Amino acid sequence: MLSDRLLSELNEQIRHEFYSANYYLAMAGYCLNKGLDGFANFFIVQADEERFHAMKFYNYINDIGGRLFISGYDDPKNDFTSLEDVFESALHHEQFVTKRINTLAQLADEEKHYPTISLLKWFIDEQVEEEATMSTILSKIRLVGNSGPGLLMMDQELSARVFTPPATTE
Ligand code: FEO
Repeated sequence: MLSDRLLSELNEQIRHEFYSANYYLAMAGYCLNKGLDGFANFFIVQADEERFHAMKFYNYINDIGGRLFISGYDDPKNDFTSLEDVFESALHHEQFVTKRINTLAQLADEEKHYPTISLLKWFIDEQVEEEATMSTILSKIRLVGNSGPGLLMMDQELSARVFTPPATTE
């Protein structure tokens, strides 16, 4: 039986995942404005992933008979000083989400709610990838600088990213 507190935190996570999608669309908007369409594509696909995460929590809550509550969220940051600032913000955001997932996992563990523990195992692994992706791109931007041919090559590479729903979906 899911406790009210765990149910509330799972519903809250839907909000955070949709917020993440909006935040990444804001970052995509900044990149589009700078003519960096490949970086923008990276964030638009990232927003698809975040909506997928939100719906994974949504479907899970419904599957176990929990009541869904959808709530709003604040405007994301839209102003960035550079591409480096964009990816620093993205990495910090993913670190925040990782903390949220870890808190959820701790709660599920305390309550010995095994289905939720199993769901969160997927998200724990996903967060390792999410942080690594942002961190790798940030390091490359620091290497090549905020402009120049190296950055255009990265832009070209990131234009190839497409959204593929993970195979481990329920
Ligand atoms: Fe849903 Fe990027 O974590």
